[in-house]
Amino acid sequence: MGAGKSTVGRQVALLTGRRFVDTDEEIVRLHGPIPALFERGEHEFRQIEERAVAEALREPEPGVLALGGGAILSEATRGLLRQRAWTVWLRVDPDVAWERVGNADRPLAQEESAFRRLYEERAPVYAETADAIAVDVEDVLLAGLAVRLVDPSAPVGVRGDALVADERVLGLHPLDLGCETYPVPAGEAAKRIDVVQRLWETLELDRGDTLVAYGGGATTDVAGFVASSYKRGVSWIAWPTTLVGQVDAAIGGKTGIDLETGKNLVGAFHYPTRVLIDPKLLNTLPVEERRAGMAEVVKTGLLAGQPLWELPDEEMVRACAAFKAAVCLADPFELTGRRAILNLGHTFAHALEAASGFELRHGDAVALGLLAALRLSGLDTDVVDELLRPEPVSVDEKRAWAALRRDKKAAEGRARLVLLEEIGKPIFPVELPDEDIRRELDALIAK
Ligand SMILES: NC(=O)c1ccc[n+]([C@@H]2O[C@H](COP(=O)([O-])OP(=O)(O)OC[C@H]3O[C@@H](n4cnc5c(N)ncnc54)[C@H](O)[C@@H]3O)[C@@H](O)[C@H]2O)c1
Ligand SMILES: [Zn+2]
Repeated sequence: MGAGKSTVGRQVALLTGRRFVDTDEEIVRLHGPIPALFERGEHEFRQIEERAVAEALREPEPGVLALGGGAILSEATRGLLRQRAWTVWLRVDPDVAWERVGNADRPLAQEESAFRRLYEERAPVYAETADAIAVDVEDVLLAGLAVRLVDPSAPVGVRGDALVADERVLGLHPLDLGCETYPVPAGEAAKRIDVVQRLWETLELDRGDTLVAYGGGATTDVAGFVASSYKRGVSWIAWPTTLVGQVDAAIGGKTGIDLETGKNLVGAFHYPTRVLIDPKLLNTLPVEERRAGMAEVVKTGLLAGQPLWELPDEEMVRACAAFKAAVCLADPFELTGRRAILNLGHTFAHALEAASGFELRHGDAVALGLLAALRLSGLDTDVVDELLRPEPVSVDEKRAWAALRRDKKAAEGRARLVLLEEIGKPIFPVELPDEDIRRELDALIAK
């Protein structure tokens, strides 16, 4: 009671595109006010509640459910939750909870000492039933994809059976997990088939073992891909060490490598069983790598409608990671198109990268792409100008245009763009006349 289950649940449902059911509201709708039901006896209320929860859990379509505080006292409900749900204990300090609900019209929050006793009694049942513990919306979303911010005061407690690590990162932030370490070349040079082959041939893992990937997006992409394919798939943990990795690459299950013919052309969806985020690792990041990450942060803030870039590092990373987690939870395997919004600015970015022969850094291309997307949305570009200071690039205009028309999201040769109706309101797909798109693309290219 008073943990904010209905409020948090409703927001999580909204952000992940799921239906929302508040079982207490359902009970009221079907049977009238809860205090009146309680007057007929708690036992009868619990039976009604048990049926309401079972009904909500029977729906095949995934949803977010907010259960009443006492619902899990039922053994039958706990059993159903184990089978059909992923359960979060939304933990609240009892003082805060009492302040919120004490003396209200809740039958079990009439008297403070009884309320506290109830809290004490129920806590162990919550602990036993929950798959995760959270305190707010971001926490729930992060837990949903097993993303955890590392607590600097507590041991990380990770057990891995093989550590695949960016060799530069190993030098800067040594990590000993007590298992074999497999260094890979720093950065993009790791995303190659010969690196994959060497890992396939030298790893000694059983099907039940876990591989740990430690490095930027390049390392998590290649190591995740190896994990997806080695012995038909072993589980893996992502431990991203760049801003791009922590807010983007390590979240959402995409893994892959590059071919001579293009970037990310071979890969698989293979979600890590855990993502460990330690923002302190970012202290050694070169400025250009930080700027690349900030381009994705700005993108996320524009999509979320919040100036996330103004937050201190740890909160910024947490908020961006949670936003990406929400979008991925809404469309885990990119089947419905909901994930497409993450490509804000990317149609232009990918075209510029391809036209540069992939010399251009992705983040720098995204900064330019965001300019184009904002202009075509009729919105102000100040944030991008001030934070990312994008400079037009020297690439061939015709080559860039040809690459844009080949974009993955294009339908029948027409580019389908992600634009913003307003900040925080992405729209997709938007088709515009070629001349408008080409004009904005050309404006990103140095004359
Ligand atoms: N799978 C996805 O969903 C996804 C999303 C976005 C990007 N990506 C991929 O991620 C890659 C880019 O990742 P990235 O931007 O993290 O760069 P990166 O992994 O290429 O690393 C960039 C450089 O930073 C160094 N580095 C890493 N951590 C460091 C640290 N803590 N301190 C100092 N130096 C450090 C690396 O050695 C490397 O030289 C691209 O290949 C891209 O395709 C994948
Ligand atoms: Zn990107």
